[in-house]
Amino acid sequence: MDKLRIAGGRPLQGEARVSGAKNAALPIMCAALLTAKPLVLANVPRLMDVHTMTRLLEQMGVRAAEGGNGALELQAGTVGSPVAPYELVKTMRASVLVLGPLLARCGQARVSLPGGCAIGARPVDQHVKGLQAMGATITIEHGYMNATAERLRGARIVMDLVTVTGTETLMMAATLADGVTVLENAAREPEVADLARCLAAMGAKIEGAGSDTIRITGVASLGGARHAIMPDRIETGTYLAATAAAGGRIRLRGAMPGTLDAAMEKLREAGARIAVAEDTIELEMDARPRAAGFRTAPFPGFATDMQAQFMTLNTIAEGTAVITETIFENRFLPALELQRLGAAITLQGSAAIVKGVGRLQGARVMATDLCASASLVIAGLVAEGETVIERIYHLDRGYEALQQKLSALGARIERIA
Ligand code: EPZ
Repeated sequence: MDKLRIAGGRPLQGEARVSGAKNAALPIMCAALLTAKPLVLANVPRLMDVHTMTRLLEQMGVRAAEGGNGALELQAGTVGSPVAPYELVKTMRASVLVLGPLLARCGQARVSLPGGCAIGARPVDQHVKGLQAMGATITIEHGYMNATAERLRGARIVMDLVTVTGTETLMMAATLADGVTVLENAAREPEVADLARCLAAMGAKIEGAGSDTIRITGVASLGGARHAIMPDRIETGTYLAATAAAGGRIRLRGAMPGTLDAAMEKLREAGARIAVAEDTIELEMDARPRAAGFRTAPFPGFATDMQAQFMTLNTIAEGTAVITETIFENRFLPALELQRLGAAITLQGSAAIVKGVGRLQGARVMATDLCASASLVIAGLVAEGETVIERIYHLDRGYEALQQKLSALGARIERIA
């Protein structure tokens, strides 16, 4: 199985282009199920999860044609089998995003219930409750959700908690429902707003996406559209944190700075100089970082998907940072691996107390999920000597051309068998 070997201790210098956002691409690909017409996408990242989603859609009868440069055309002329099997849902939890569109378009769906995953319990009760409020009948049998609805009808749904894919599921379902749906306590993540922009281009009537109240007026049918996937804010934040930790100066092109306020505030607190233009971010760091604690929260708060990367930054900082994780219960696994590199981290329930040590030392470590992998890569860039990261396949799920991009920034990084 592939491993990543990093020789640390070099600053990052140069320019990189931000890829399209995985967590916007996945729901937007599912939106193709809502229409028989083609959905033509640009800036789709080349990632394992995107590949898995393409396979899932193809299996339902969707025609997928990949062009160069992140172009992807999807057309669901007819939907042959509205089923998301366990084999695919278990490898990618985001497969549940087909539930809403399938139900709205076909009146039925059979989607495997996702289990827990490395980062914690991941229930879908809010997706189910919302669809039931819209008139769907959903039973759970043999590990599958069986959903049927003659035609979904609009409803006012107050979500018990903020859920990103839950909001996306209900928003997509509501586009073809009979009447008006109002989602209260909706997720405000920029990826929800990007999905809404794509749905609007397809003819959906949506107001308020990006705020906590989204109002969708159902239409009889949707058409084709062209849409460019928004830039990946998690990838952007990861390269910024890497440079703040390793030192140096980078310029990220094709970014969306307005989606990174919480992360940039922490980077400035850590001592980085940041300059922002319309779609570029420049960061310069020439000193040891200062500790910058934070608490994860739904957008616009600090993203849980950047928590581990910013924990690594704090391991070498001056001072002690308290990091509190409020979204998932098991997101401190990288802390245990970082300790193997010499980090001083104490875990206390949902808090990690990170006492900055001057330096890390390279060692063999193991990645447990996407963000954990990214945090270990940053640790490897910073550590003295060689770091080998095992189970690196997690990175291929979410970071496009990571090795090439880091190499171009001067890192000594290679994949080994
Ligand atoms: C999305 O997952 C992202 N995935 C995750 O990125 C991200 O970590 C997460 O949002 C939080 O920002 C995609 O967008 C594809 P949630 P999602 O529903 O939607 C609880 C990655 O690999 N909850 O917002 O599944 C849940 O347990 C991934 O890039 C319920 O209780 O997350 C959690 O505590 C990792 N019932 C909280 O809500 C529900 O029905 C937020 O989860 C749904 C969620």
